[in-house]
Amino acid sequence: MKGSDCSKRAVGVAAANLVENGMTIGIGSGSTASCFIAALIKRVETEGLHFRAVATSLASHTQAQQGGIQVLDINEVKGLDLAIDGADEIDAYKQMVKGGGGALLREKIIASIAHEMVVIVDESKLVDHLGTFGLPLEILPFGFSHTLRAIEQKKFKVSLRVNGANKPLLTDNGNYIADISFSEPIEDPEPIDYTLLKIPGVLETGFFLGLAGRIFVGKTDGTIEIRP
Ligand code: 5RP
Repeated sequence: MKGSDCSKRAVGVAAANLVENGMTIGIGSGSTASCFIAALIKRVETEGLHFRAVATSLASHTQAQQGGIQVLDINEVKGLDLAIDGADEIDAYKQMVKGGGGALLREKIIASIAHEMVVIVDESKLVDHLGTFGLPLEILPFGFSHTLRAIEQKKFKVSLRVNGANKPLLTDNGNYIADISFSEPIEDPEPIDYTLLKIPGVLETGFFLGLAGRIFVGKTDGTIEIRP
């Protein structure tokens, strides 16, 4: 974790306090979500908190399960009381970019079946306009070079995310991640999302629009702001 460890931990603890006995929740991915999972594990150990979870990534699944949380397959649940997850960027309209950790597709499915998606971020994620972080996309390996070309033909600058061995990074779903970079702030993400999702091979974008409920913002002074 980087400089804002303290805010991430504080926001993780605050979000863990939302979980009640008997709930079924979605747990996010990334360093902030990992703080949230750690805080949940502490509540399981100290209070005997009992709830069920589905995970947005194999890493979060493992962390939660090893900490004694009951983790279910998503198809075993009818819906979720809460999904709690981080974000890479969030604007004043609660529009987000996610997928820095490559888990965006599972994250979006889980957010979409939750009664509320609670977003946990530190102040560095708050932006006036989305775009500086770029936009991760999950794309199908089959025909990926054509998918990338189709994205470029729509005038986007795109690159395939690679691992340390310079091979395409594989998501937990066995797909690839492509990252779009923007030269200007995004005024309206909706038409961009629509354009990209129409390209065959683009499985999902990292735009999370109209999904966020409460936003928990961890401040550098250790306080937390809750945006309803
Ligand atoms: C993973 C995500 C994460 O929520 C996002 O990247 C934020 O991560 P972190 O809390 O480590 O900054 O979308 O796909």
